[in-house]
Amino acid sequence: MSATKKSGGLAGVVAGQTAICTVGKEGAGLTYRGYAIEDLAELATFEEVAYLLINERLPNRKELREYRRRLMALRGLPSPLKAVLELLPADTHPMDVLRTGCSALGCLEPEDKSRNQYQVADRLLAVFPSMLLYWFQFSRHGRRIETQTDDEQMAAHFLHLLHGKSGNDLHVRALDASLILYAEHEFNASTFSTRITTSTLADFYSATTSGIGTLRGPLHGGANEEAMALIQRFKSPEQAEAGLMAMLAKKELIMGFGHRVYKSSDPRSASIKGWAKRLAEATGETELYRMFERVEAVMWREKKLFPNLDFYSAAAYHFCGIPTSLFTPLFVISRTSGWSAHIMEQRANNRLIRPTADYIGPTPRPFVPIDKR
Ligand code: ACO
Repeated sequence: MSATKKSGGLAGVVAGQTAICTVGKEGAGLTYRGYAIEDLAELATFEEVAYLLINERLPNRKELREYRRRLMALRGLPSPLKAVLELLPADTHPMDVLRTGCSALGCLEPEDKSRNQYQVADRLLAVFPSMLLYWFQFSRHGRRIETQTDDEQMAAHFLHLLHGKSGNDLHVRALDASLILYAEHEFNASTFSTRITTSTLADFYSATTSGIGTLRGPLHGGANEEAMALIQRFKSPEQAEAGLMAMLAKKELIMGFGHRVYKSSDPRSASIKGWAKRLAEATGETELYRMFERVEAVMWREKKLFPNLDFYSAAAYHFCGIPTSLFTPLFVISRTSGWSAHIMEQRANNRLIRPTADYIGPTPRPFVPIDKR
């Protein structure tokens, strides 16, 4: 195999150093700043994890309270941003709304002497749910919602803005766990693109906008929406199995399965699957859940492929009453914490990221002016 083929998609290439996260590392698994994902997902809250990623250590009780308060105070949308959001068509993909909203906020509240990188990170974390749901409610129902709520936790706040009332406890806890699981994942495609943008000394908003654009595709964050769309094509586990077999026979990709780094399982899956099961039992949608499980079983039997985080996140979000088009934006809301940590880490020890390519084009040839061709 040639060197080029081996590194296709930069697979296996070590592209830099990080102290933020280990992914699939022998003896460590998935950790955020040294803490195991299993412990964080079970015992922490999203705000604690975001604080950990960005500030390099866990907050104490007082710091966590202050951090939550700070984020709560940053949920408001400036009028010009509301005007921009109101101009976006109802059929815009919500990921494009976040990409545009992030860019627009960068014009209104630029990173400059009066606003440092920590302040921009806080602002983006706090404001993305507001941006998304302001546009969502306005474009769907013509409602200009108030984006402040009394909910201290991001998960509760999100469900409140979406449903117009406080979310039930199970939904809040499930969503909070998913935000922790989605928060960080080393040099994945979207994080790497934020680091590339950062390495040119571009501003925080530009780097985050790059991340959003990169996350949008179905080979990355967009897989959770595709997984839901797949399951909804079927009416029973038997139909799901038959449909899946037909897709596999045509060598189609099944979104929500496989991973570049993990080879036998995704360490985030067990936790989110557990939440999906509990939510299915609580909502009574057990037949739908059984379809997810059947697809998982068939993928393992036929391809030895395992569900990645996106597969059962789709189920969990659906059971929380979240529309499918908001699944990948929720990934943004969470991953903003990891992206922010990486932007700061890249800046702290920066060198322009600029690899080289193997040239496979035509050999040198003479240029003939257009009127002589
Ligand atoms: N469905 C069907 N076949 C698959 C899948 C899948 N989901 N994933 C991998 N394969 C097959 C490939 O076709 C390939 O087969 P081949 O050797 O016969 O060509 C083999 O398994 C190896 O796969 P690669 O393409 O080498 O895997 P790669 O590391 O390049 O891609 C990726 C990883 C993009 C995640 C891939 O598994 C995929 O496309 N999955 C579906 C999209 C998805 O779920 N993305 C979410 C990623 S996780 C996240 O963002 C939270």
